[in-house]
Amino acid sequence: MVIYAHRGFSGCYPENTMIAFQKAYDYGAKALELDVQITKDGKIIVIHDEKIDRTTNGKGFVKDFTVDQIKKLDAGSWFDQLYKDEKIPTLDEVIKWLSTIERKMIVNIELKSKEFSQRKILRELINVIEKCNFLKHHIVFSSFSIENLIELRNLDSDVSLALLLEWNKDYSVEEIMKLSEIVNAKYVHTDVRILQSDIVNVLCNLTNVCVYTVNDQNIFKMAKSKGIFGIFTDFLDKMI
Ligand code: G3P
Ligand code: CA
Repeated sequence: MVIYAHRGFSGCYPENTMIAFQKAYDYGAKALELDVQITKDGKIIVIHDEKIDRTTNGKGFVKDFTVDQIKKLDAGSWFDQLYKDEKIPTLDEVIKWLSTIERKMIVNIELKSKEFSQRKILRELINVIEKCNFLKHHIVFSSFSIENLIELRNLDSDVSLALLLEWNKDYSVEEIMKLSEIVNAKYVHTDVRILQSDIVNVLCNLTNVCVYTVNDQNIFKMAKSKGIFGIFTDFLDKMI
């Protein structure tokens, strides 16, 4: 089973920061998940929320700040004073780091903003990945926005995509597979509540299903028994 360090080792370090990624690697993670948003000047940065309020000492929307302004923020103190020097990383910085580490990890980049469906930004994203040979086979893009995934697929026929779905108990297997086929997705990522549904076994036989967020070992065992392909966890230490 693939175990994604969700936003890095985010149970013990400030989410989506370099220390959270490095500690996930040090702990032995084979897969990493991170979220990206776009700044006012069109740079891709690693942060979950569309606002900076929850995870930095600033206030406002990411889209209203330039990357230079974003870089001045403290992205660690909200979690613990120990991490006051952590900054919001750019995607470029994370990719540079990925190319230096010895054990190559699978990296799921979740495109948070619908703005990613603007071709210019997605083109830049594909360029970033193509700069680095190993990356193409280690990156999985996902998004709740099907438009983003369609644009990505139009730009690149090879890149691995995951259809990201909020769990809705009314989904049928046919509906999910249809959406998945539209973008030729290799994976379906969805809420852990799918484990309680009638369709979980059938879906797991048809595609690679990964569930978020699993921080409880009993749920982890249940996911395994249902044939789930991967999980996202904040607490790597409980899962590996
Ligand atoms: O990609 C899986 C999961 O990360 C989606 O939810 O809110 O944690 O980004 P969220
Ligand atoms: Ca995410």
